Amino acid sequence: MSKDSLSITDNRTGKTYEVVIDNGTIKALDLRQIKVGDGDFGLMTYDPAFTNTASCKSRITFIDGDRGVLNYRGYPIEQLAEQSNYLETAYLILLGELPSRAQYEGFAHSITHHTLVHENIKELMGGFRYDAHPMGMLMSTVAALSTFYPEAKHIHDARNRKEQIFRLIAKIPTLAAFAYRHSVGMPYAYPDNDLSYCGNFLQMMFKMGGRYKVNPVLERALEVLFILHADHEQNCSTSAMRGVGSSEVDPYSSIAAAIAALYGPLHGGANEQVLHMLHDIGSKDKIPSFIKGVKTSGGEVRLMGFGHRVYKNYDPRAKIIKRMADQVFEVTGRNPLLDIALELERIALEDEYFVKRKLYPNVDFYSGLIYQAMGFPLDMFPVLFAIPRTSGWLAQWDEMLEDKEQKIARPRQVYLGVQRRDYVPLVARS
Ligand code: ACO
Repeated sequence: MSKDSLSITDNRTGKTYEVVIDNGTIKALDLRQIKVGDGDFGLMTYDPAFTNTASCKSRITFIDGDRGVLNYRGYPIEQLAEQSNYLETAYLILLGELPSRAQYEGFAHSITHHTLVHENIKELMGGFRYDAHPMGMLMSTVAALSTFYPEAKHIHDARNRKEQIFRLIAKIPTLAAFAYRHSVGMPYAYPDNDLSYCGNFLQMMFKMGGRYKVNPVLERALEVLFILHADHEQNCSTSAMRGVGSSEVDPYSSIAAAIAALYGPLHGGANEQVLHMLHDIGSKDKIPSFIKGVKTSGGEVRLMGFGHRVYKNYDPRAKIIKRMADQVFEVTGRNPLLDIALELERIALEDEYFVKRKLYPNVDFYSGLIYQAMGFPLDMFPVLFAIPRTSGWLAQWDEMLEDKEQKIARPRQVYLGVQRRDYVPLVARS
């Protein structure tokens, strides 16, 4: 007879235990009862990099990595990319349902009326070196915002949380565009609340004086890219958001931590690395020797934009971006690196090394090509990831704070160091 439990026999003691299986998981704490004797701490799980540990229960994003499925609140990413816009998707991710027209308009109004940042932020930005990486500037200025909104520390007040969520989603494009303009020595362009979220961001980035005319194809492409990047369940940066947020610090500080995690080349920095890689390869005839180098490097050299911890199939976001590239290139002109990328993908997908390890293009493989064609410099790529992911991070943070099972994140360790020894004064050390 089937039963939702797991029987465990400890061969050290011969004792048998039964632990409950719930939602395909067992509670790690249920293993603590498994001991060899009274002084024993009890059994723990060992899971470096959390490859098989669920850290929370969530109702936001569903991924089936084997089938290449990504849904936000149950809605397939393909339908949202086709029919929704970023703000509506952010509402869905944050509040769980698609908004009515009135709800959408109220939400969009709240966001567009929080886009300005305090003038002191400009001075803060001015302190960065002329060539400071915009992601470093974004991370620092978001952290600095916590000092402008000290009330944000009241994280158990749901209304207060909501206000900070609106502020963060609204201000992050402004900070991002200011960081870019600082790095190119251009005066900051202020938000234009009459434009859409993405249209406003484009004008804050690229306005050169006079009125900036937003190209509808590029605006739509940015909407789609922002939808695709809005959330991705418990990835490295979201885990940072939840982990840091679990200390009950204000959301600006937690978002700064999430941005730091996203900055890494194995996470949000990957699309920048893809472009560097394509530049370095230089031409299609160099691809076979590059692939050979990847395969013989023992994991040192990676085909950037390939592989994913969760997707063992084509990343559904990469499919949408690849299709969209043609529409963007019709406006901007074809990115010459596209041909290298397409050939690289073709060769890799036929190569036994990549097939065996189930390595497929991920979201970063084609997104950088589009961003570059749109005029974004390479070091803005991770920033372009952080802007839409802010809604996902905040939704996950809010969900965590409402979850009675959550506590401050505090993993255990397996200590393998010296157990105990006595201090030796410096003069007595050989
Ligand atoms: N190129 C070449 N080999 C790879 C790649 C790659 N891109 N990715 C994984 N492998 C190989 C590893 O060397 C390893 O081989 P081995 O079994 O012979 O040792 C095997 O595939 C498994 O790799 P892991 O590193 O264990 O896989 P993991 O799930 O830990 O890593 C990651 C996932 C970090 C995304 C990895 O695939 C990678 O480094 N990809 C390139 C960077 C990248 O594109 N990151 C963006 C991810 S999407 C995102 O964050 C938005």
